Amino acid sequence: MEQKIITAQSPGRINIIGEHTDYNDGFVLPAAIDKKSVFRISKNGSKQTVNITSKNMGNTFSFDLDDFQPIKTGWENYVMGVVYELQKLGAQLEGFDGEFVGDVPIGGGMSSSAALECSLAYGLNKLFNLGLEKWQMIKACQMAEHNFVGIKCGIMDQFASVMGKKNHVMLLDCRSLEFKYFPFDLGDYQLLLLNTNVSHALASSEYNTRHSECEAGVKILKKHFPKIKNLRDVSPQMLKQCISEMTENISKRCQHIVGENKRVLDATDALVKNDFPQLGKLMYESHFSLQNDYEVSCPELDFLVELTLDKNYVLGSRMMGGGFGGCTINVIKKNQAQYFITIASEYFKKKFNIELTPYFVSIEDGAEVSN
Ligand code: GLA
Repeated sequence: MEQKIITAQSPGRINIIGEHTDYNDGFVLPAAIDKKSVFRISKNGSKQTVNITSKNMGNTFSFDLDDFQPIKTGWENYVMGVVYELQKLGAQLEGFDGEFVGDVPIGGGMSSSAALECSLAYGLNKLFNLGLEKWQMIKACQMAEHNFVGIKCGIMDQFASVMGKKNHVMLLDCRSLEFKYFPFDLGDYQLLLLNTNVSHALASSEYNTRHSECEAGVKILKKHFPKIKNLRDVSPQMLKQCISEMTENISKRCQHIVGENKRVLDATDALVKNDFPQLGKLMYESHFSLQNDYEVSCPELDFLVELTLDKNYVLGSRMMGGGFGGCTINVIKKNQAQYFITIASEYFKKKFNIELTPYFVSIEDGAEVSN
């Protein structure tokens, strides 16, 4: 008998502002985009054999549902991680075959990993009638990264990938998971992503280090403010009061998070008022804070942001995502965007000998499944 094939897809994301705030229970302003991972899966009649092909990488990987472990590194960990987390939720899976293909640039800061995880979770949920709610799949995919990939990421990427809404950004409270959609229309301006095409090796180790540094900051703050749970609860005044007890690094990390949370809320206000210059200003502030205080930028990203500073047709520019490579996100006047791409590509190539990749992304709906 021919097996039913399920097709599930889940997109990458952008983030207008709110970087590294998610794992501090803070605020983010992401949206799903027109780049996605598409997973096709079907039962293969076996009890416990899984065969998965990455069409992008051109390789196939098999594992046993009763006995699997993370490998050193690779896409296989995202797949096994999702399976593991769904099993933890009680999912009774049988053998299945799957293949996936994606156009979210890997290492571009657009979360190709969340796209992959969420498309698989959606596909398995349908194929095996697991009856999981969206939030359960979102959390399972986040935990896949913690437990199988080794990155203690926040919830932003998986949330945006699943909950995205066409032409809307979402203000997400990463503590309560309450969220609100806001129509996204920049008038004469548009978003432009510029991919540096670099992905520095530091990205994952430094990510987890930042996580610990924030926790260390909270520990000190708690001595004075026992009620706080994490940096989300800390005001600039509270931080000021404790800063002398912190190392320079810890105080800088805390400063970024406390400032960035406020910037997200201010940016949402600016968006509602169609005050795009203010939105842009906050994006720049976010970048410089990520560069100087959180220290997750890199010369390639800084170069691209600096290049926009004297261009009055660019309202805002900043690094996007975890950092150490990937894209900048820019708010640029529509009729100047092509011109800017030309000069930015030329200067970037001259400086780093790397081709820049521009993307005009559109904002789309989140994960979907069909058969
Ligand atoms: C990565 C993580 C997210 C988030 C961003 C930085 O994309 O997966 O959870 O922390 O970095 O904002």
